[in-house]
Amino acid sequence: MVNGFVTEQAFLSDGKTALPIYHYSILDSTNAEAKRRGTAKSAVILADRQTAGRGRLGRQFFSEGGIYTSIILPAESLSFSPMLLTSAAAFAVCRAVRAAGFDAKIKWVNDILLDGKKICGILAEAMSGENGISGFVVGIGINIGNPDFPSELADIAGTLPLSNAEKEVLLHAIIQGFFDALAMPPREMLAYCAEQSAVIGKKVRFFGAKEGVGRALGLSCEGGLTVLTDEGTVTLTGGEISLRVE
Ligand code: BTN
Repeated sequence: MVNGFVTEQAFLSDGKTALPIYHYSILDSTNAEAKRRGTAKSAVILADRQTAGRGRLGRQFFSEGGIYTSIILPAESLSFSPMLLTSAAAFAVCRAVRAAGFDAKIKWVNDILLDGKKICGILAEAMSGENGISGFVVGIGINIGNPDFPSELADIAGTLPLSNAEKEVLLHAIIQGFFDALAMPPREMLAYCAEQSAVIGKKVRFFGAKEGVGRALGLSCEGGLTVLTDEGTVTLTGGEISLRVE
């Protein structure tokens, strides 16, 4: 690996299309680097470590020893509602982690859990150019090995016990799975996400633009979570949910 130069490629499922991988030993954030590079072409940014890994809602993302990657998508390459990008990434991570032999589940909308603990977070962001939205960056962070989690994460963060070789196989499976998801009828992709959901059928508390408690029923065609509350059915399109309902 030569920091920031293309020394690796990710082949998609057709075995022919290849995306450049810009691999760094250390970066502030792969999503930030994707934004600096812009959206001229699809590419993958990969870092072994991030010093300012970003999560949703302005949170930090602990970033030592795992997979930290961002996929750049020019707007014109997308034949898919951008609303579905996070679900497509969740599909890809869940399918790849399950293929590696672990019972991963999706916690709507951007977390992957193993034994109830978060092993992966996803952060999809729009990138703007001179004429509005020029593309999207889909960032994926996965905890791997035996990281020294800060005390506030010790009870909620999980990790995948993988060797370096297995980690590389997982990265390539995720990139392929993400582009497979984009090429698939959204209904099929969402059916898999619903099948592997850690949430559907359970009581949840939701926060953000809408707040309340109810039972998660399923996914809408835009990837929203439908929840049955005492006041009726609501569809969540953002915010957060918790499975801990007191
Ligand atoms: C979350 O859990 O809130 C989302 C976390 C997303 C983390 C990934 S790591 C790779 C990419 N670069 C970032 O700075 N964030 C995403």
